[in-house]
Amino acid sequence: MNVLVLGRGKTGSVVAEIATERRHHVHSVGAKENAEGAALRVESLHRVDCVIDFTAPHCILAHIQACVKAGKNMVVGTTGWYEDIDHVRSLVEQHKTAFVYAPNFSIGVNLFFDVARSAATALRHEYSGQIFERHHVSKKDAPSGTAIALQGLMREASPHHEEVEITSFREGEVVGLHEIVLESAADRIYLCHDAKSRRGFAEGAVRAAEWLAGKKGFYEFKDVWREL
Ligand SMILES: NC(=O)c1ccc[n+]([C@@H]2O[C@H](COP(=O)([O-])OP(=O)(O)OC[C@H]3O[C@@H](n4cnc5c(N)ncnc54)[C@H](OP(=O)(O)O)[C@@H]3O)[C@@H](O)[C@H]2O)c1
Repeated sequence: MNVLVLGRGKTGSVVAEIATERRHHVHSVGAKENAEGAALRVESLHRVDCVIDFTAPHCILAHIQACVKAGKNMVVGTTGWYEDIDHVRSLVEQHKTAFVYAPNFSIGVNLFFDVARSAATALRHEYSGQIFERHHVSKKDAPSGTAIALQGLMREASPHHEEVEITSFREGEVVGLHEIVLESAADRIYLCHDAKSRRGFAEGAVRAAEWLAGKKGFYEFKDVWREL
């Protein structure tokens, strides 16, 4: 495929590397080349099969609007825009494109979501829950999209849909660490996922782009990763 990677930062650069390893034709652009959406005009997108976005919350909505209106498939790893999810879903449906997003594209984290969903049953048995997340100091959003997703699935599992508190830490070069602690008067359960590098996110995003080819619709990665 011809893949346009938006964002040449910590994750976007690994996405471009992996897409190239998987024999796609890759073009990457950063903020400078994409000033005022220059890389996302209809004529610039002409030959692109799929756009993969790992940029920043302030520009993601404009990127989505430009790519979807141009009829392009999109994989969105950028977080911090989920309050606009209904608007994006209807835009994708209206333009009949294919779109997949995830707060976390790693297969390991998606397995962790399943484990967390199962462990969250403890909330029905007099356990209280807490979520801790740690990321590098330059991460722009807090709490992380992954922590918010964990909070959502724990809310669904709790008897009165209570919100489990999230505590965020920003320190050093931490790639992404998520912990769940479930505590009762008798014991404690600890669950932890610790990303060793950005490779897991990038591989999942590239494989999601391959999966989207020939499809239409609005998908969340947690519902489709088993099909990759
Ligand atoms: N879903 C997942 O699995 C996953 C995993 C990791 C990260 N993320 C998310 O992905 C996003 C990026 O994370 P990161 O750690 O890679 O951040 P980063 O290192 O800060 O990289 C962001 C990049 O986006 C570029 N950028 C900013 N505005 C742009 C625009 N309008 N057009 C094109 N490029 C633009 C920046 O370019 P300049 O350097 O030129 O400003 C920068 O290189 C964040 O929202 C993060 O939460 C998601």
